[in-house]
Amino acid sequence: MVKNLISIKLTDLEGQVHNIEAPTDMGFNLMDAIRANEIQIKATCGGMAMCATCNVLIKSDHSLPEMSGAEEDMLDEAFVLEVEGSRLACQIPISTAIDGIEVELGELTGE
Ligand code: FES
Repeated sequence: MVKNLISIKLTDLEGQVHNIEAPTDMGFNLMDAIRANEIQIKATCGGMAMCATCNVLIKSDHSLPEMSGAEEDMLDEAFVLEVEGSRLACQIPISTAIDGIEVELGELTGE
């Protein structure tokens, strides 16, 4: 059977750890999965790579899709590009490649 649920370990801004699951067959991205679990993430632009308020820090050693120019520009403007593992959650598709990923919400997600 093809596995269509992956697990994600997410640390929120209060330091609370959430072990969540997300389906790989619904076109979700990491920001959608966080929202679907009713965890606070600002994500103002709704996933358009235009706000940086879905910034997360990747803590595990998963290989992720390359950043697009739009993602890179947005993280740069938000002054978080240099923070190690900094990405936009809305630009990371939910797939088996990120099963078991560990992420922390960035400060911008709660402003
Ligand atoms: S939700 Fe705005 S950049 Fe991701």
